[in-house]
Amino acid sequence: MSPYRLTRVLPADATDAALRSDVLRGLGAAPKHLPPKWFYDARGSDLFEEITRLPEYYPTRAEREILVDRAEEIAAAAGARTLVELGSGSSEKTRLLLRALRELSVYVPVDVSESALAGAGRALLAEHPDLTVHALLADFQHGLPLPEAPGPRLVAFLGGTIGNLLPDERAGFLASLRALLRPGDTLLLGTDLVKDEEVLVAAYDDARGVTAEFNRNVLAVLNRELGADFDPADFDHVALWDARREWIEMRLRARTALTAKIPALDMAVSFAAGEELRTEVSAKFRPEGVRAELAAAGLDLRHWWTDAAGRFALSLSTPIPAP
Ligand code: SAH
Ligand code: TRP
Repeated sequence: MSPYRLTRVLPADATDAALRSDVLRGLGAAPKHLPPKWFYDARGSDLFEEITRLPEYYPTRAEREILVDRAEEIAAAAGARTLVELGSGSSEKTRLLLRALRELSVYVPVDVSESALAGAGRALLAEHPDLTVHALLADFQHGLPLPEAPGPRLVAFLGGTIGNLLPDERAGFLASLRALLRPGDTLLLGTDLVKDEEVLVAAYDDARGVTAEFNRNVLAVLNRELGADFDPADFDHVALWDARREWIEMRLRARTALTAKIPALDMAVSFAAGEELRTEVSAKFRPEGVRAELAAAGLDLRHWWTDAAGRFALSLSTPIPAP
């Protein structure tokens, strides 16, 4: 049996169809918007890794601090033989969990980025020769055909990526996660917490401009995949705090009036000078909100851990038995 397997839930042409429909819908709408998963081609995944090392981007360091302090506790509470990780990226912080989960036999990283999955798989197998890694190239919002793997299972969703879903998407997503869980399984969820606006905005608008480049990379994806002729330099990076909805919003703002052609869609998209395209939200949470959203999906929050500065939280939940 090979210790590494990759299952493509997303065939190349289905990715293309999904991209086309997202672009057709999102760039045809007012205001314009795109779903964040299209950031993560190979270049986007590399840029995100660079973001995680920026002085302004505290979430990765805060979450790692919690994992360093609590991995043993998490492992004891989960007792997992299979670890499923959604939006696993480089699986960097996951190593702390893998080391602590001593009964673990299968790791299932799930990501839309093939380059991230490939890089992570190689590195992990070198460290854990007895582990079976079954990578899933899949969109975690569109059905998760989990491989047969021994229970109990721990599903980890780190990095605050849940905050990149809109509130109604989050509710649907958590409910479908709940439906995947069996008695004895657990969910480990990373959520970034509400804090000072200056700290939040800086994390999404760093001085070196790495986040700006990451944001503009989505236009390079449209150019390559759909033959579009966006000039990323025509757009400014915008990160702002929406105090009412408690989320950071990332936008691309057209510097001048412009029209881009998207040949694959027979489409031309016009921007007025200053018009913005929303590329991502990153919601920030309060403890009672996390507990309530989990409860609404049939999940019982059992443990809550934060870093010493109280910037980021990890929670561990169990499925509430259906009545
Ligand atoms: N968990 C890592 C990476 C977070 S970045 C960390 O904490 O550092 C978000 C990751 O989720 C990226 O690797 C991206 O490719 C992936 N991703 C984004 N949307 C996705 C989707 N809809 N389905 C699967 N993976 C997705
Ligand atoms: N999940 C990460 C977050 O919300 C993703 C992210 C970090 C991101 N920085 C970004 C997405 C900049 C788009 C642009 O923190």
